[in-house]
Amino acid sequence: MQAWVIGNWKQNPATKREVETLVTEIVTANNERSVNNSNTDSSHDKAKTCQLMLAPSCIHLSAVSSRLQDSSILCAAQDISAHSATVGAYTGDCSAQQVADAGATWTILGHSERRQYHQESNEILLAKLVCALEQKLGAVLCIGETQAQYDARDTIKVIDEQLQVVKQLLAQPIAKSMDLDHTLAEQLIIAYEPVWAIGTGKVPTVSEVSATHKHIKEQLASFASKLPAITVLYGGSVNADNADSFAASPVIDGALVGGASLKAESFLAIAKAFS
Ligand code: PGA
Repeated sequence: MQAWVIGNWKQNPATKREVETLVTEIVTANNERSVNNSNTDSSHDKAKTCQLMLAPSCIHLSAVSSRLQDSSILCAAQDISAHSATVGAYTGDCSAQQVADAGATWTILGHSERRQYHQESNEILLAKLVCALEQKLGAVLCIGETQAQYDARDTIKVIDEQLQVVKQLLAQPIAKSMDLDHTLAEQLIIAYEPVWAIGTGKVPTVSEVSATHKHIKEQLASFASKLPAITVLYGGSVNADNADSFAASPVIDGALVGGASLKAESFLAIAKAFS
């Protein structure tokens, strides 16, 4: 399965200049990595086996997507409006159509910070998923349990509730009109991110993550017999030092990276681990 490493920049960096520097450093280092890989291994272009993606904040989307145009790195939004896929009187929102026009081909949805600070429910996320699909944007749907839920051993219960939105999506006319064998699996990625691991330096063990990923894949498969294997990423304090251990698991298909994606060196080291 194709590996994915996605940089979620959140509300960073502060200035246009810093954004330009960061994206330039990432593109340059990635080009060097591709050249090195093809020089050392002509039979197998390893750089191609890990798809990279960057999710800047909305205001930097156009600049970052323009800079990425001649690279193999994709650009994603961090969120889209639930109210309309196109235009309307929704102050402060950016629609799927607008972020696609700004160069995004994917959007992150349901990040725990959106769930926590913007009370995003399954109902809201279903509306956002439909908007994304209508505008042919891929969606990286984030799920994961809080520390209290982890301590209460409720991880699977919480995840199953959050995954219901995918089941509901499959019943929507937009999903029914898609060829499930190909299109939906290509436009949906699940990112399992335990809330207690995000930005804390605390990580679950690789075997805990692997067991959860196996469960997520089984749940998704149970929703529709035609649905092929969906990519499941791990996120939460992934860094250059621990990426190898997550990459070694056959059911961890890549990483959603926050803090470590703000430095080209650590982001590319994580990409290398998954290549
Ligand atoms: P982190 O964030 O890598 O800084 O823990 C991950 C995320 O929130 O997606």
